[in-house]
Amino acid sequence: MLEGADTELFSELIATCDGMLSARVYQRIYQTAQRGGLIVEVGTALGAATVALALGLKSSGKAGHVYTFDPMTGGPRRSIKSVEQRIAWIEKNLLRYGVADLVTIMPCDLAGGLAELPSGEPVEVLMLDADGRIDRDLEALHGHCAADCALIIDDVADLVRVRRKGATYRIDSKMRLSWLLTNMLVSTGRISPGERLVNTYFGDLTCDPTRIVDHAEVLAIYRQLVFQSASANRLQRIRSRLMEWGQEVAPDFAAQCRRVYRRAKYRTIGTDTAGDKAAA
Ligand SMILES: C[S@@+](CC[C@H](N)C(=O)[O-])C[C@H]1O[C@@H](n2cnc3c(N)ncnc32)[C@H](O)[C@@H]1O
Repeated sequence: MLEGADTELFSELIATCDGMLSARVYQRIYQTAQRGGLIVEVGTALGAATVALALGLKSSGKAGHVYTFDPMTGGPRRSIKSVEQRIAWIEKNLLRYGVADLVTIMPCDLAGGLAELPSGEPVEVLMLDADGRIDRDLEALHGHCAADCALIIDDVADLVRVRRKGATYRIDSKMRLSWLLTNMLVSTGRISPGERLVNTYFGDLTCDPTRIVDHAEVLAIYRQLVFQSASANRLQRIRSRLMEWGQEVAPDFAAQCRRVYRRAKYRTIGTDTAGDKAAA
C-alpha cells in the first residue's frame, strides 16, 4: 500500500502529466531511480515517468541525471499539436516538481541522440516505454549500460489491440511484442526474472551488456507476430468508438475521461502483480 503523502504525490503526477500508468507503478519507478547515476528513459509522452524518475533521483541525494528520448510525433492525445508545444508542456511539469535541472529532454529517438549522453558514464537505470521494439533500444545502448543496470519495461502483456477507424482496422501488437521479447530475455538469463506490477517489468541486466541482443532470437520473436488472435467485446468496441469521437471533437476532455477510466481500472485490477491481460 502507498503511504498517504505518496498516494497524493503520484495521483497528482498522473493528473498533471497525463500519466498512463498507475500510482503504484510510478512509485516503483521513483524507488528504482533512487539508485542514482545516469538514467535513460525512452518514451517521454508528457513526462509523468520522467518526473517520477527525477524525483526519485533527487530524493536519493546522489549525483545523476535523467535523459529522456521521444521524437514527440505520437503518443499523448491532447490538443498539443507541435513538438515545441509538447516540450514546453513537459518543461512546465519539470519546473512544477522542482526537477528541471535534473532532466534533459531529447526530442528524438535513442539512436538519434545517443552521442549526447555523457561519455564513459554507464547507464544505471533504463526505462523503456516507447513502441515495444525494446531490442532496438537495448542494442543502441550496447556498451553504455552498467553490468547490473536496473531495467524498467512498460506495456509487457500478452495483448493485441484492434481499433477500427471507418473501414480500416489498426492492429497494435506493441504490448505483445514487449511481452515476447521480455520473456525471451528472462528465459535466456539476460535479464533477471524481476517483478511485474500491472503491465510493467522491474528487473536488472544479468549478462554482459554488449551481448543482450541476439539477432536470431529476436527474429524468431518477430516471426511470432505473423498470426495472432485478438478479441474485442461489444463494450470495448463502443468504448473505443466513443474515445475516437471524443478525440476528434474535444481532445482535452477525452484525455480527462481516459484518466478517470484508468484510475477506476487500476483500482479494480489492484496494484500488485495483476494479470498480464489487463486491458489497456
Ligand atoms: C506510452 S507513451 C509513454 C508514457 C510515459 N512513459 C508515461 O509515463 O506517461 C509512449 C511514448 O513513446 C514515444 N515513442 C514512440 N516511438 C519512440 C521511439 N522510437 N523512441 C522514443 N520514443 C518513442 C511516443 O511518442 C509516446 O510519447
